Amino acid sequence: MSAAEKFLDPQGSDDIASECVAFVSDNQTHDVVESVARQFFDDPYVRDGGSQQALDYLSEAPTPTVLIVDIGDSSAPLTAMLSLTAAFSEQTRLIGIGTINDINLYREMVGAGITDYLIKPVTEKALAAALCRTEETTHSTASTDTSEDKLNKIAVVGSRGGVGASTVAVNLAWLISQDRSHKTALIDLDLEFGTVALSLDLEPTRGLREALESPNRIDSLFIESATAKLTDKLSVMATEETLAQQIEYNADAIDILFDTVGRTNTCIVADVPRSAFTVRQRVFEECSKILLVTDLTLSGLRDTMRLMAGIEETAPGKPTFVVVNRTGGKFQAMTTGDFQKALGHKVNFTIPDDPKSFNLAANNGKPVVQINSRSQVSKAIRKIAEGVSDLVDGNADGSSKTGWRRFFKRK
Ligand SMILES: Nc1ncnc2c1ncn2[C@@H]1O[C@H](COP(=O)(O)OP(=O)(O)OP(=O)(O)O)[C@@H](O)[C@H]1O
Ligand SMILES: [Mg+2]
Repeated sequence: MSAAEKFLDPQGSDDIASECVAFVSDNQTHDVVESVARQFFDDPYVRDGGSQQALDYLSEAPTPTVLIVDIGDSSAPLTAMLSLTAAFSEQTRLIGIGTINDINLYREMVGAGITDYLIKPVTEKALAAALCRTEETTHSTASTDTSEDKLNKIAVVGSRGGVGASTVAVNLAWLISQDRSHKTALIDLDLEFGTVALSLDLEPTRGLREALESPNRIDSLFIESATAKLTDKLSVMATEETLAQQIEYNADAIDILFDTVGRTNTCIVADVPRSAFTVRQRVFEECSKILLVTDLTLSGLRDTMRLMAGIEETAPGKPTFVVVNRTGGKFQAMTTGDFQKALGHKVNFTIPDDPKSFNLAANNGKPVVQINSRSQVSKAIRKIAEGVSDLVDGNADGSSKTGWRRFFKRK
């Protein structure tokens, strides 16, 4: 009997390969994997073993849709996983289970195309979340490419306090998710004074601070619990941290947060505080474009120049768009033309001053583009959404035509 025959037909039955195959090395993990896999697949194949047994299996059996491999015993877990990625088709989703809790290892794995990496002891909840995410990533790759390159990561930062950066971030995220149909995550990185949750009448979510301080905690389950779903297509991470303690940001957290959130979204809109240096720099490096919001004041001009110089230093050549907000308002100190000349950079978008519309939106806890979509401000913000979201419209939520949801028992 060949290895495949042994695997596929251990009892001598005519059984064929399973859509979900797992090789695990201890009883506890075995029980968890067996129990959770049964909730998702008709006939999961869970056996004792690790990467070598998985390789033997793959060499002779059809590739499964999901492969779960315990690499807890391996001295070189990444190499063990990489040997597996080489052996299966693009459609296969690979989940590793290991004992090493190291964020760099996690990132290397994900960077190498491994769908998830779970640390022992694996809980049912964590594995179920990983399988759900597996399904989502399969849908995404089946319909649109949500790879790093295609993920639209838009950072919004204000030149000064109160110029309207959060307003732009919230309305932009709404338009990209609702009008342009892209699964979008709106992340308020201003943990202390952020206004995103307030302006959308949402309970602040928990966990963002922990994520930014201890990125090794970030995984799909963690992200899910730190996210509020505003609509099917728009999820929000926005917290309201105590002012009594200093926040110890870890710059690496930004990459990991974006990577993880980006696996189930096609767009990230980040509201970036000017004050948190570490976060600001890393977001500028990580994002695909920056919206710099300012008013038409002298201080706004000076700080737009300083921020642009900072961006050039940190992320040279990063596409940066200048948004002049509240044109025609009572604080306007110069014309857009003069501002542009002095700045030496094009003003890409303008938004008129319209306190009435924004007050209405604030009182309703909704974006102005939703509550008063035909107003001049909404039209202006729509132009920004059209200008900066170079994603292809429609069907970007990962709805798959070829979908393998049918393989799942649970919907
Ligand atoms: N075009 C506009 N017309 C009238 N009011 C506006 C306009 N844009 C923003 N506002 C209002 O200005 C106020 C400040 O906006 P917002 O909170 O977005 O600024 P911010 O730059 O994020 O501030 P902070 O520096 O505190 O984060 C809000 O009350 C908002 O409704
Ligand atoms: Mg703000």
